[in-house]
Amino acid sequence: MNVQQILSQLEALPPMPAVAVRLLTAAQDPDANLGQVAGWIERDPAMTANVLRACNAPIYGLRARVTSVRQATGLLGLRKIVQIALTVLASRYLTPAQDGYALAAGDLWRSSVTSALAAELLAEQIRYPAPGTAYTAGLLQDLGKIVLAEFVAPSIREIRRLTEEEGISWQEAERRVVGVPHPEVGALLLERWGFPDTLVESVRYHHRPAEARIDRTLAQISHLADAFTMTLGQGVGADGLAYHLDEDSLASVGLKDTADVEDVLARLAERVRAAQDLFTLA
Ligand SMILES: [Fe+2]
Repeated sequence: MNVQQILSQLEALPPMPAVAVRLLTAAQDPDANLGQVAGWIERDPAMTANVLRACNAPIYGLRARVTSVRQATGLLGLRKIVQIALTVLASRYLTPAQDGYALAAGDLWRSSVTSALAAELLAEQIRYPAPGTAYTAGLLQDLGKIVLAEFVAPSIREIRRLTEEEGISWQEAERRVVGVPHPEVGALLLERWGFPDTLVESVRYHHRPAEARIDRTLAQISHLADAFTMTLGQGVGADGLAYHLDEDSLASVGLKDTADVEDVLARLAERVRAAQDLFTLA
């Protein structure tokens, strides 16, 4: 398989609107101007409509219906409004079907939102300093699949055979058969879009968190978020059966036994229920 061909597909994708990186930067800035952030979102009417719909999802706990982004920003705060806006932006890319991975329309999106919620939950639990970043890492970790699906499709039998007969992970089989695995493709895409290095790294290593260098905790959170999403069966595709869990990640986030994991899964299932409105944004 021609890796160059895959890489040239990255250029064919419509670039993520520049506002995404601006929002991520603002989320890290304690002096960010909330009115300005709301203004960036309001400039795009389609995005505004979806942000307002998302804001009213039970997971955000607003008592009354919000009718403007400014009002929502005031009530929810910077971190949440950035999270919601990024969710809306990402839904356009992650909602279509990805046949190569046996993912129907909406499947990859549901698993991405669930991973985002799981990553945020884990980040809060271990007091990771940037739970918003963890959410974004979970949301975007499988982005590479949108480019790789068409290359995986004709080789799916060979990939499956390798995972079954040799016991290797799905992404390792992707590397051998297609030439480049989906985490690498996703990382390259985020690099092109100018996303921060920590996010790029966590996407690149979400199946091999021990190899992360800049922020290993973030990669471990992403990895576990992915595994928990698979366990809950949210939008699982062909690769779900060849999942290799990194046990060290469990220990690093303080999940010592099955009871701890079950507790996180129960809380995640609750959040997923409260976030149903986010599953149909695009
Ligand atoms: Fe993945």
